[in-house]
Amino acid sequence: MKSKIFVVLGGVAVMTAIWMQTSCAESPKPAVAKLQPPSPVRTLKLPELDPALPAGKGKETVVLMCAVCHTPHYILNQPPFSREVWMAEVTKMQKTYSAPIPEDKVPEILDYLVAVRGSTAR
Ligand code: HEC
Repeated sequence: MKSKIFVVLGGVAVMTAIWMQTSCAESPKPAVAKLQPPSPVRTLKLPELDPALPAGKGKETVVLMCAVCHTPHYILNQPPFSREVWMAEVTKMQKTYSAPIPEDKVPEILDYLVAVRGSTAR
């Protein structure tokens, strides 16, 4: 009795295998992407920002203290800020980002920041 079940199951398995093979063979093959000719692009020129800061008193200090972490362009990217806002910005660099800016350099830095990107508005 047991062997009859195995024969039937075996037959079903063989039939299924044959059916799967034929149905797979009939199914259309996925289109093979045609190889593109090599791209004529050989180099990419990425846009560059001029990181140069305008001349002014304290510029060297600012470059020394600020450009160690990021481009000084961050300064020029900001809208004109009041001295208070720049002060908050420098404090944020010190406190939040651990910028090693000595306190005695801060007034000189602020003078320069206000000179190049200052505003009288608050
Ligand atoms: C210890 C590293 C470090 C130093 C030094 C540093 N910064 Fe930053 N600064 C950061 C980081 C980090 C950010 C946030 C970067 C970002 O969001 O992509 C940032 C962002 C800024 C921004 C963008 C506005 C903002 O608040 O996120 C300005 C403006 C800026 N810094 C000015 C300065 C100035 C001015 C100095 C020098 C007095 C300075 N930074 C020094 C780390 C530093």
